[in-house]
Amino acid sequence: MKDEPGAKNLMTQLDSVFIRKEPFGLVLILSPWNYPLNLSLGPLVGALAAGNCVVLKPSEISKSTMKVLAKVLPRYLDQSCFAVVLGGPEETGRLLEHEFDYIFFTGSPRVGKIVMAAAAKHLTPVTLELGGKNPCYVDDNCDPQTVANRVAFFRCFNAGQTCVAPDYVLCSPQMQAQLVPALQSAITRFYGNDPQRSPDLGRIISQKHFQRLRGLLSCGRVVIGGQSDESDLYIAPTVLVDVKETEPVMQEEIFGPILPIVNVRSLDQAIDFINRREKPLALYAFSNSSQAVKQMLDRTSSGSFAGNQGFTFLTLTSLPFGGVGQSGMGRYHGKFSFDTFSHHRACLLSHPGLEMLNNIRYPPYSDFEQRLITWALGSHSCTLL
Ligand SMILES: *[C@@H]1O[C@H](CO)[C@@H](O)[C@H](O)[C@H]1NC(C)=O
Ligand SMILES: *[C@@H]1O[C@H](CO)[C@@H](O)[C@H](O)[C@H]1NC(C)=O
Repeated sequence: MKDEPGAKNLMTQLDSVFIRKEPFGLVLILSPWNYPLNLSLGPLVGALAAGNCVVLKPSEISKSTMKVLAKVLPRYLDQSCFAVVLGGPEETGRLLEHEFDYIFFTGSPRVGKIVMAAAAKHLTPVTLELGGKNPCYVDDNCDPQTVANRVAFFRCFNAGQTCVAPDYVLCSPQMQAQLVPALQSAITRFYGNDPQRSPDLGRIISQKHFQRLRGLLSCGRVVIGGQSDESDLYIAPTVLVDVKETEPVMQEEIFGPILPIVNVRSLDQAIDFINRREKPLALYAFSNSSQAVKQMLDRTSSGSFAGNQGFTFLTLTSLPFGGVGQSGMGRYHGKFSFDTFSHHRACLLSHPGLEMLNNIRYPPYSDFEQRLITWALGSHSCTLL
Protein backbone atom coordinates (compact mmCIF):
# COMPACT_ATOMS: atom_id res chain seq x y z
CA MET A 1 0.00 0.00 0.00
CA LYS A 2 2.99 2.25 0.57
CA ASP A 3 4.19 4.67 -2.07
CA GLU A 4 6.41 2.75 -4.45
CA PRO A 5 9.60 4.49 -5.59
CA GLY A 6 10.08 4.80 -9.34
CA ALA A 7 13.34 4.60 -11.26
CA LYS A 8 14.77 7.97 -12.36
CA ASN A 9 16.69 9.32 -15.32
CA LEU A 10 19.52 11.85 -15.10
CA MET A 11 17.26 14.90 -15.37
CA THR A 12 15.09 13.76 -12.43
CA GLN A 13 17.88 12.67 -10.08
CA LEU A 14 17.03 15.30 -7.49
CA ASP A 15 13.29 14.71 -7.65
CA SER A 16 11.21 12.37 -5.60
CA VAL A 17 9.51 9.87 -7.90
CA PHE A 18 6.90 7.39 -6.73
CA ILE A 19 3.60 5.64 -7.39
CA ARG A 20 0.80 6.45 -4.97
CA LYS A 21 -1.98 3.85 -4.65
CA GLU A 22 -5.16 5.79 -4.12
CA PRO A 23 -8.76 4.60 -3.99
CA PHE A 24 -10.99 5.24 -6.98
CA GLY A 25 -13.80 6.38 -4.71
CA LEU A 26 -17.16 4.66 -4.92
CA VAL A 27 -17.12 1.09 -6.23
CA LEU A 28 -20.14 -0.87 -7.42
CA ILE A 29 -19.82 -4.63 -6.97
CA LEU A 30 -22.34 -6.79 -8.82
CA SER A 31 -21.97 -10.35 -7.58
CA PRO A 32 -23.43 -13.62 -8.92
CA TRP A 33 -25.47 -16.43 -7.39
CA ASN A 34 -23.20 -19.43 -7.85
CA TYR A 35 -20.80 -18.65 -4.97
CA PRO A 36 -22.87 -15.86 -3.46
CA LEU A 37 -20.69 -15.33 -0.37
CA ASN A 38 -17.25 -15.91 -1.83
CA LEU A 39 -17.81 -13.83 -4.96
CA SER A 40 -19.30 -10.96 -2.91
CA LEU A 41 -16.79 -10.92 -0.07
CA GLY A 42 -13.67 -11.43 -2.23
CA PRO A 43 -14.14 -8.23 -4.26
CA LEU A 44 -15.58 -6.39 -1.23
CA VAL A 45 -12.43 -7.05 0.82
CA GLY A 46 -10.22 -5.90 -2.07
CA ALA A 47 -12.20 -2.71 -2.66
CA LEU A 48 -12.30 -1.77 1.04
CA ALA A 49 -8.62 -2.62 1.56
CA ALA A 50 -7.77 -0.20 -1.24
CA GLY A 51 -9.72 2.52 0.60
CA ASN A 52 -12.89 2.67 -1.48
CA CYS A 53 -16.51 2.83 -0.43
CA VAL A 54 -18.68 0.07 -1.85
CA VAL A 55 -22.20 -0.44 -3.04
CA LEU A 56 -22.70 -4.21 -3.08
CA LYS A 57 -25.53 -5.63 -5.18
CA PRO A 58 -25.69 -9.39 -4.53
CA SER A 59 -27.61 -11.57 -6.96
CA GLU A 60 -31.36 -11.77 -6.36
CA ILE A 61 -31.31 -15.38 -7.59
CA SER A 62 -29.47 -16.63 -4.48
CA LYS A 63 -32.18 -14.86 -2.49
CA SER A 64 -31.49 -16.26 0.99
CA THR A 65 -27.78 -15.46 0.89
CA MET A 66 -28.59 -12.00 -0.41
CA LYS A 67 -30.73 -11.35 2.65
CA VAL A 68 -28.10 -12.73 5.01
CA LEU A 69 -25.46 -10.45 3.49
CA ALA A 70 -27.68 -7.39 3.91
CA LYS A 71 -28.46 -8.39 7.49
CA VAL A 72 -25.09 -9.41 8.88
CA LEU A 73 -22.56 -7.22 7.04
CA PRO A 74 -23.51 -4.13 9.09
CA ARG A 75 -22.59 -6.08 12.22
CA TYR A 76 -19.01 -6.48 11.08
CA LEU A 77 -18.22 -3.49 8.89
CA ASP A 78 -18.22 0.26 9.38
CA GLN A 79 -21.55 1.29 7.86
CA SER A 80 -20.13 4.51 6.51
CA CYS A 81 -18.02 2.64 3.96
CA PHE A 82 -20.53 0.32 2.33
CA ALA A 83 -24.16 -0.29 1.46
CA VAL A 84 -25.93 -3.42 0.31
CA VAL A 85 -28.62 -2.88 -2.30
CA LEU A 86 -31.17 -5.61 -2.89
CA GLY A 87 -33.08 -6.00 -6.10
CA GLY A 88 -33.33 -7.65 -9.50
CA PRO A 89 -32.48 -6.62 -13.06
CA GLU A 90 -34.67 -3.50 -12.88
CA GLU A 91 -32.99 -2.16 -9.73
CA THR A 92 -29.58 -3.06 -11.15
CA GLY A 93 -30.46 -1.10 -14.29
CA ARG A 94 -31.32 1.93 -12.19
CA LEU A 95 -28.16 1.56 -10.07
CA LEU A 96 -26.13 1.54 -13.27
CA GLU A 97 -27.50 4.94 -14.29
CA HIS A 98 -25.52 6.49 -11.43
CA GLU A 99 -21.94 7.54 -11.81
CA PHE A 100 -19.61 5.15 -9.99
CA ASP A 101 -15.83 5.42 -9.93
CA TYR A 102 -15.34 1.71 -10.58
CA ILE A 103 -17.59 -1.22 -11.44
CA PHE A 104 -16.68 -4.81 -10.64
CA PHE A 105 -18.99 -7.34 -12.27
CA THR A 106 -19.06 -11.13 -12.06
CA GLY A 107 -21.55 -12.89 -14.32
CA SER A 108 -22.38 -13.76 -17.90
CA PRO A 109 -20.87 -12.15 -21.02
CA ARG A 110 -24.42 -11.06 -22.01
CA VAL A 111 -24.98 -9.01 -18.84
CA GLY A 112 -21.30 -7.99 -18.88
CA LYS A 113 -21.97 -6.09 -22.10
CA ILE A 114 -24.92 -4.26 -20.50
CA VAL A 115 -22.74 -3.29 -17.53
CA MET A 116 -19.89 -2.11 -19.74
CA ALA A 117 -22.24 -0.06 -21.94
CA ALA A 118 -23.69 1.63 -18.83
CA ALA A 119 -20.18 2.26 -17.49
CA ALA A 120 -19.12 3.79 -20.81
CA LYS A 121 -21.67 6.61 -20.35
CA HIS A 122 -19.60 7.90 -17.41
CA LEU A 123 -16.22 6.55 -18.61
CA THR A 124 -16.20 4.36 -15.51
CA PRO A 125 -13.50 1.67 -15.53
CA VAL A 126 -14.69 -1.92 -15.17
CA THR A 127 -13.49 -5.34 -14.21
CA LEU A 128 -15.60 -8.02 -15.88
CA GLU A 129 -15.32 -11.54 -14.53
CA LEU A 130 -17.19 -13.55 -17.16
CA GLY A 131 -17.49 -17.19 -18.09
CA GLY A 132 -17.11 -19.22 -21.20
CA LYS A 133 -16.70 -22.80 -22.26
CA ASN A 134 -13.57 -24.20 -20.67
CA PRO A 135 -11.95 -26.94 -22.74
CA CYS A 136 -10.39 -29.98 -21.13
CA TYR A 137 -7.97 -31.86 -23.36
CA VAL A 138 -7.17 -35.47 -22.46
CA ASP A 139 -4.16 -37.08 -24.13
CA ASP A 140 -4.06 -40.75 -25.17
CA ASN A 141 -1.13 -41.42 -22.82
CA CYS A 142 -3.21 -40.65 -19.70
CA ASP A 143 -4.37 -43.07 -17.08
CA PRO A 144 -8.17 -42.89 -17.62
CA GLN A 145 -9.11 -43.32 -13.96
CA THR A 146 -6.75 -40.59 -12.76
CA VAL A 147 -8.17 -38.13 -15.28
CA ALA A 148 -11.77 -39.24 -14.68
CA ASN A 149 -11.47 -38.66 -10.92
CA ARG A 150 -10.10 -35.17 -11.36
CA VAL A 151 -12.42 -34.12 -14.18
CA ALA A 152 -15.58 -35.56 -12.56
CA PHE A 153 -14.79 -33.87 -9.24
CA PHE A 154 -14.25 -30.43 -10.75
CA ARG A 155 -17.18 -30.76 -13.18
CA CYS A 156 -19.62 -31.75 -10.39
CA PHE A 157 -18.30 -29.38 -7.70
CA ASN A 158 -21.24 -27.10 -6.73
CA ALA A 159 -23.34 -29.21 -9.14
CA GLY A 160 -21.30 -27.81 -12.02
CA GLN A 161 -22.26 -24.20 -11.31
CA THR A 162 -18.68 -22.92 -11.45
CA CYS A 163 -17.37 -20.46 -14.01
CA VAL A 164 -13.97 -22.18 -14.19
CA ALA A 165 -15.31 -25.77 -14.34
CA PRO A 166 -14.10 -27.99 -17.18
CA ASP A 167 -16.99 -27.54 -19.62
CA TYR A 168 -16.23 -30.20 -22.23
CA VAL A 169 -13.63 -32.88 -22.90
CA LEU A 170 -11.59 -33.12 -26.08
CA CYS A 171 -10.08 -36.56 -26.65
CA SER A 172 -9.64 -39.33 -29.21
CA PRO A 173 -12.36 -41.99 -29.70
CA GLN A 174 -9.94 -44.54 -28.15
CA MET A 175 -9.47 -42.44 -25.00
CA GLN A 176 -13.23 -41.80 -24.85
CA ALA A 177 -13.86 -45.58 -24.78
CA GLN A 178 -11.67 -45.86 -21.65
CA LEU A 179 -12.70 -42.56 -20.09
CA VAL A 180 -16.47 -43.22 -20.04
CA PRO A 181 -16.34 -46.30 -17.74
CA ALA A 182 -13.72 -44.50 -15.60
CA LEU A 183 -16.01 -41.44 -15.26
CA GLN A 184 -18.88 -43.75 -14.30
CA SER A 185 -16.73 -45.31 -11.63
CA ALA A 186 -15.59 -41.91 -10.30
CA ILE A 187 -19.18 -40.61 -10.14
CA THR A 188 -20.35 -43.75 -8.33
CA ARG A 189 -17.43 -43.50 -5.93
CA PHE A 190 -18.22 -39.84 -5.12
CA TYR A 191 -22.05 -39.88 -5.11
CA GLY A 192 -23.12 -43.55 -4.82
CA ASN A 193 -25.42 -45.53 -7.12
CA ASP A 194 -28.18 -42.94 -6.82
CA PRO A 195 -26.52 -39.52 -6.82
CA GLN A 196 -29.88 -37.86 -6.05
CA ARG A 197 -29.61 -39.30 -2.53
CA SER A 198 -26.02 -38.20 -2.02
CA PRO A 199 -25.60 -35.49 0.62
CA ASP A 200 -22.48 -34.36 -1.28
CA LEU A 201 -24.08 -33.29 -4.56
CA GLY A 202 -25.69 -29.85 -4.80
CA ARG A 203 -28.86 -28.78 -6.58
CA ILE A 204 -29.52 -26.41 -9.45
CA ILE A 205 -30.13 -22.85 -8.30
CA SER A 206 -33.50 -22.18 -9.96
CA GLN A 207 -36.34 -23.57 -12.06
CA LYS A 208 -35.15 -21.55 -15.03
CA HIS A 209 -31.62 -22.96 -14.93
CA PHE A 210 -33.00 -26.44 -14.28
CA GLN A 211 -35.10 -26.26 -17.44
CA ARG A 212 -32.19 -24.92 -19.47
CA LEU A 213 -30.01 -27.82 -18.27
CA ARG A 214 -32.72 -30.42 -18.86
CA GLY A 215 -32.88 -29.15 -22.44
CA LEU A 216 -29.14 -29.78 -22.84
CA LEU A 217 -29.59 -33.45 -21.84
CA SER A 218 -31.07 -34.15 -25.27
CA CYS A 219 -27.85 -33.18 -27.07
CA GLY A 220 -25.75 -36.05 -28.42
CA ARG A 221 -26.15 -39.40 -26.64
CA VAL A 222 -26.30 -39.94 -22.86
CA VAL A 223 -23.76 -42.55 -21.69
CA ILE A 224 -23.81 -41.71 -17.96
CA GLY A 225 -26.64 -40.22 -15.89
CA GLY A 226 -29.25 -38.25 -17.81
CA GLN A 227 -31.86 -38.30 -15.01
CA SER A 228 -33.52 -35.16 -13.73
CA ASP A 229 -36.19 -34.30 -11.14
CA GLU A 230 -37.83 -30.92 -11.37
CA SER A 231 -39.42 -31.06 -7.89
CA ASP A 232 -35.90 -31.41 -6.42
CA LEU A 233 -34.06 -29.25 -9.00
CA TYR A 234 -31.85 -32.30 -9.47
CA ILE A 235 -29.74 -33.00 -12.55
CA ALA A 236 -27.71 -36.22 -12.42
CA PRO A 237 -23.98 -36.10 -13.16
CA THR A 238 -24.17 -36.75 -16.89
CA VAL A 239 -21.74 -37.54 -19.69
CA LEU A 240 -22.73 -37.00 -23.33
CA VAL A 241 -20.96 -38.40 -26.40
CA ASP A 242 -21.50 -38.01 -30.19
CA VAL A 243 -22.11 -34.31 -29.56
CA LYS A 244 -22.13 -32.00 -32.56
CA GLU A 245 -20.38 -28.65 -32.35
CA THR A 246 -23.59 -26.94 -33.49
CA GLU A 247 -25.74 -28.34 -30.65
CA PRO A 248 -26.67 -26.03 -27.74
CA VAL A 249 -24.51 -27.96 -25.26
CA MET A 250 -21.47 -26.93 -27.31
CA GLN A 251 -22.71 -23.38 -27.89
CA GLU A 252 -23.51 -22.09 -24.39
CA GLU A 253 -21.65 -22.36 -21.09
CA ILE A 254 -23.17 -25.44 -19.43
CA PHE A 255 -23.04 -24.40 -15.75
CA GLY A 256 -24.36 -27.75 -14.57
CA PRO A 257 -23.14 -31.32 -13.91
CA ILE A 258 -23.15 -32.23 -17.61
CA LEU A 259 -19.95 -33.14 -19.46
CA PRO A 260 -19.95 -33.54 -23.24
CA ILE A 261 -17.07 -35.34 -24.91
CA VAL A 262 -15.98 -34.15 -28.35
CA ASN A 263 -13.62 -36.29 -30.40
CA VAL A 264 -10.39 -34.99 -31.87
CA ARG A 265 -7.70 -37.06 -33.57
CA SER A 266 -4.64 -35.25 -32.22
CA LEU A 267 -3.26 -32.52 -29.98
CA ASP A 268 -3.00 -30.26 -33.05
CA GLN A 269 -6.66 -30.80 -33.82
CA ALA A 270 -7.60 -30.04 -30.20
CA ILE A 271 -5.60 -26.80 -30.33
CA ASP A 272 -7.30 -25.82 -33.61
CA PHE A 273 -10.70 -26.56 -32.07
CA ILE A 274 -9.92 -24.36 -29.04
CA ASN A 275 -8.46 -21.52 -31.10
CA ARG A 276 -11.50 -21.41 -33.40
CA ARG A 277 -13.60 -20.43 -30.39
CA GLU A 278 -13.66 -17.48 -27.99
CA LYS A 279 -10.88 -17.40 -25.40
CA PRO A 280 -12.05 -19.38 -22.34
CA LEU A 281 -11.78 -18.42 -18.69
CA ALA A 282 -9.82 -21.60 -17.95
CA LEU A 283 -8.14 -24.28 -20.00
CA TYR A 284 -7.21 -27.77 -18.83
CA ALA A 285 -4.74 -30.18 -20.38
CA PHE A 286 -4.21 -33.72 -19.12
CA SER A 287 -1.20 -35.60 -20.42
CA ASN A 288 1.66 -37.71 -19.17
CA SER A 289 3.90 -35.82 -21.56
CA SER A 290 5.03 -32.46 -20.23
CA GLN A 291 5.74 -31.54 -23.86
CA ALA A 292 2.06 -31.93 -24.75
CA VAL A 293 0.96 -29.81 -21.76
CA LYS A 294 3.50 -27.17 -22.74
CA GLN A 295 2.32 -27.18 -26.35
CA MET A 296 -1.25 -26.60 -25.19
CA LEU A 297 -0.09 -23.75 -22.97
CA ASP A 298 2.11 -22.13 -25.62
CA ARG A 299 -0.32 -22.32 -28.54
CA THR A 300 -3.56 -21.19 -26.87
CA SER A 301 -4.83 -18.36 -24.68
CA SER A 302 -7.18 -18.38 -21.68
CA GLY A 303 -7.76 -16.57 -18.39
CA SER A 304 -6.01 -19.35 -16.49
CA PHE A 305 -4.43 -22.67 -17.31
CA ALA A 306 -3.98 -25.96 -15.46
CA GLY A 307 -1.98 -29.02 -16.48
CA ASN A 308 -3.21 -32.32 -15.02
CA GLN A 309 -5.38 -30.55 -12.46
CA GLY A 310 -8.69 -28.77 -11.98
CA PHE A 311 -9.24 -25.23 -10.68
CA THR A 312 -6.99 -25.45 -7.62
CA PHE A 313 -5.13 -22.37 -8.90
CA LEU A 314 -8.04 -20.38 -7.47
CA THR A 315 -6.81 -21.01 -3.94
CA LEU A 316 -3.48 -19.27 -4.54
CA THR A 317 -3.37 -15.56 -3.82
CA SER A 318 -0.08 -15.44 -5.70
CA LEU A 319 -1.96 -15.92 -8.97
CA PRO A 320 -4.25 -13.37 -10.60
CA PHE A 321 -7.77 -14.52 -11.41
CA GLY A 322 -9.56 -13.15 -14.44
CA GLY A 323 -10.50 -13.71 -18.04
CA VAL A 324 -9.27 -12.61 -21.43
CA GLY A 325 -11.32 -11.75 -24.51
CA GLN A 326 -14.90 -12.97 -24.12
CA SER A 327 -14.12 -14.44 -20.69
CA GLY A 328 -13.57 -10.98 -19.22
CA MET A 329 -11.07 -8.26 -18.41
CA GLY A 330 -9.14 -7.32 -15.28
CA ARG A 331 -8.01 -9.58 -12.46
CA TYR A 332 -8.21 -9.97 -8.70
CA HIS A 333 -7.39 -12.23 -5.69
CA GLY A 334 -4.79 -11.35 -3.06
CA LYS A 335 -2.63 -8.36 -3.92
CA PHE A 336 -4.17 -8.27 -7.39
CA SER A 337 -7.47 -7.23 -5.77
CA PHE A 338 -5.79 -4.30 -4.06
CA ASP A 339 -4.17 -3.25 -7.33
CA THR A 340 -7.42 -3.60 -9.28
CA PHE A 341 -9.25 -1.30 -6.88
CA SER A 342 -6.41 1.25 -6.69
CA HIS A 343 -5.58 4.05 -9.05
CA HIS A 344 -1.81 4.01 -9.54
CA ARG A 345 -1.03 7.69 -9.46
CA ALA A 346 2.27 8.79 -11.01
CA CYS A 347 3.96 11.37 -8.76
CA LEU A 348 7.06 13.53 -9.14
CA LEU A 349 8.01 16.10 -6.50
CA SER A 350 10.66 18.56 -7.60
CA HIS A 351 12.85 20.95 -5.65
CA PRO A 352 11.24 24.39 -5.22
CA GLY A 353 14.56 26.07 -5.95
CA LEU A 354 17.47 25.02 -8.17
CA GLU A 355 16.06 26.92 -11.15
CA MET A 356 19.49 26.71 -12.75
CA LEU A 357 18.92 23.04 -13.43
CA ASN A 358 15.75 23.90 -15.28
CA ASN A 359 17.26 26.60 -17.45
CA ILE A 360 18.74 24.04 -19.80
CA ARG A 361 15.22 23.14 -20.99
CA TYR A 362 14.15 26.54 -22.09
CA PRO A 363 14.53 27.93 -25.62
CA PRO A 364 16.23 29.47 -27.42
CA TYR A 365 18.62 26.52 -27.81
CA SER A 366 22.26 27.20 -28.43
CA ASP A 367 24.59 24.58 -29.92
CA PHE A 368 26.21 24.22 -26.54
CA GLU A 369 22.90 23.51 -24.80
CA GLN A 370 21.88 20.99 -27.41
CA ARG A 371 25.14 19.13 -26.99
CA LEU A 372 24.79 19.28 -23.22
CA ILE A 373 21.28 17.86 -23.35
CA THR A 374 22.31 15.11 -25.74
CA TRP A 375 25.18 14.22 -23.44
CA ALA A 376 23.09 14.44 -20.27
CA LEU A 377 20.31 12.22 -21.59
CA GLY A 378 22.72 9.76 -23.16
CA SER A 379 20.98 7.01 -25.05
CA HIS A 380 18.20 6.71 -22.49
CA SER A 381 15.81 9.27 -23.75
CA CYS A 382 15.31 11.79 -26.50
CA THR A 383 13.05 14.18 -24.67
CA LEU A 384 13.73 17.80 -23.84
CA LEU A 385 11.63 17.54 -20.71
C1 LIG B 1 0.66 -40.94 -15.94
O1 LIG B 1 1.15 -42.24 -15.99
C2 LIG B 1 1.34 -42.87 -14.73
C3 LIG B 1 1.97 -44.26 -14.98
O2 LIG B 1 1.18 -45.00 -15.88
C4 LIG B 1 0.01 -42.98 -14.01
O3 LIG B 1 0.18 -43.52 -12.72
C5 LIG B 1 -0.59 -41.56 -13.89
O4 LIG B 1 -1.87 -41.63 -13.31
C6 LIG B 1 -0.71 -40.91 -15.25
N1 LIG B 1 -1.19 -39.54 -15.13
C7 LIG B 1 -2.21 -39.07 -15.80
C8 LIG B 1 -2.57 -37.64 -15.58
O5 LIG B 1 -2.84 -39.72 -16.57
C1 LIG C 1 -13.07 -17.83 -1.99
O1 LIG C 1 -12.66 -19.12 -2.38
C2 LIG C 1 -11.27 -19.27 -2.64
C3 LIG C 1 -11.05 -20.67 -3.19
O2 LIG C 1 -11.46 -21.66 -2.28
C4 LIG C 1 -10.52 -19.01 -1.34
O3 LIG C 1 -9.13 -19.13 -1.58
C5 LIG C 1 -10.85 -17.62 -0.85
O4 LIG C 1 -10.24 -17.40 0.39
C6 LIG C 1 -12.36 -17.43 -0.72
N1 LIG C 1 -12.63 -16.03 -0.38
C7 LIG C 1 -13.57 -15.65 0.44
C8 LIG C 1 -13.67 -14.17 0.66
O5 LIG C 1 -14.33 -16.43 0.98
